[in-house]
Amino acid sequence: MPKPRELHDKYFLQAKAEGYAARSAYKLKQIQERYRVLRPGDTVLDLGCAPGSWMQVASEIIGPHGVIVGIDLLPVNIKLPANVRAIQGDAFKVTPRELLQLTHRSKGWSDGLFSVVLSDMAPNTAGIGDDLRSVTLCRRVLEIAEKALAPGGRLVMKVLEGELYPDLMREALGVFDFARGYRPDATREVSREIFAVCMRFRGSRPEVPVDAAKATAAPAGWADLPPAKVPPHKRVLVEKDPRRQPSRKFKPLAKGTPEPEAKEPKRRPFKRKSGPPSKGSA
Ligand SMILES: C[S@@+](CC[C@H](N)C(=O)[O-])C[C@H]1O[C@@H](n2cnc3c(N)ncnc32)[C@H](O)[C@@H]1O
Repeated sequence: MPKPRELHDKYFLQAKAEGYAARSAYKLKQIQERYRVLRPGDTVLDLGCAPGSWMQVASEIIGPHGVIVGIDLLPVNIKLPANVRAIQGDAFKVTPRELLQLTHRSKGWSDGLFSVVLSDMAPNTAGIGDDLRSVTLCRRVLEIAEKALAPGGRLVMKVLEGELYPDLMREALGVFDFARGYRPDATREVSREIFAVCMRFRGSRPEVPVDAAKATAAPAGWADLPPAKVPPHKRVLVEKDPRRQPSRKFKPLAKGTPEPEAKEPKRRPFKRKSGPPSKGSA
């Protein structure tokens, strides 16, 4: 039987003690520890940002030269750092262009795209069909990312694991060089949520062009990853885990084939190493 949900668990208490708006702050911290998705100077879009803990964490990492734009159906009621701007709205209604323009207004740039898109968006849970609703949200995230993310950019999005999860990861791999699911320790045991971490966006199709007259220099670290130079047909879609051994292919014998005789392993003739005799030898 699954364990009942513990409302005031250690992450809840830690968030309270450390001044974060929600325990989900630690999910982003753990994703960051593992994948370093956020870097100083980044321009971040946070979809489903309320009550605001991801923006608090992201702001600490990107520092004063970075900027965050958050959007949520609900208002954000906490005091936000100077480089964060949150608006109330629907990710399905706002256009990537409008989101980009918010960044420009707050920083005075006009030629930049986001370097990171985060989405912790969750559907209102109804039990049946939650995973499908969650994938619909993620597809919207991918759509926004394709228009608003800089080449080389990174994306983290929450998805409820279900039937369509493999399809969603394949779609992510269609536009990113790397995509992998990660379940941080802070995710509750009873939850089906998993975070798709996608790195090295292959190239955006911005619908921008925005007012170039307002452009100023981008902060350090902005768009720090150049676009992949590998031709599309040669790109590696899934990054290999170096700890994994290459699998040895096992070919079953055709019916009626006699078992091959076991061969003695070849022994190499023993050769004494030249050099000084070891201690104790005559
Ligand atoms: C788990 S909360 C996000 C928590 C946030 N990352 C934090 O750390 O404070 C999920 C949020 O997604 C928002 N959301 C769901 N659908 C949305 C949509 N279509 N547009 C914008 N926000 C949405 C919800 O209102 C909710 O606040």
